Amino acid sequence: MTTLNAPLKSASLTPLISADQIAARIDELACRIDQDYQGKEILMVAVLKGSFLFVADLIRAVKTPSIVDFVRLASYGSATRSSGIVELRKDLELSIKDRHVLIIEDIVDSGLTLESLRSMLLNRQPASLRICTLINKTAHREVEAPVDYVGFTMESGFIVGYGLDLDEQYRNLPDICLIEGA
Ligand code: IMP
Ligand code: MG
Repeated sequence: MTTLNAPLKSASLTPLISADQIAARIDELACRIDQDYQGKEILMVAVLKGSFLFVADLIRAVKTPSIVDFVRLASYGSATRSSGIVELRKDLELSIKDRHVLIIEDIVDSGLTLESLRSMLLNRQPASLRICTLINKTAHREVEAPVDYVGFTMESGFIVGYGLDLDEQYRNLPDICLIEGA
């Protein structure tokens, strides 16, 4: 059983990317994805839990026929930094062999989570494998993961909202906010 911590009363939230900006950027990404996948079907592999809202919006914005499946990865570490030890908590239910797979991530930070997922999926022989992330954080990159579609780029800072959490809190905020004092 998961224990939920009480919301952090001392943390302050500063809006960084508004819901309108997110929606507009998703439309742009969807246009590019449609151009790149003409005549194909996409299998979106969304990484739980952080990408659940992003994939829900993106899959409705693309016109390319698309199906979706989910993986859950857990990376041990502190609340705000990844350790690099990545555990597969929930595997895909669909086979990805010979399919056009598009990984949907919330944030690439160190790159370790994504790199571990990418090599696991490549072993299953998809027809193609690309990566789409809502946020590309650049300051703490340890592994260069080849990201094909990026929503927004930032250097550092911890963000919450629009599916992104701190200790399971704040996923339901419509905007993406910088959190300080956490
Ligand atoms: P990485 O393995 O360091 O690239 O960590 C990526 C994962 O850490 C993301 O999929 C997020 O779940 C989480 N993460 C990294 N930075 C943040 C953040 O600012 N807010 C919320 N989650 C984050
Ligand atoms: Mg997370």
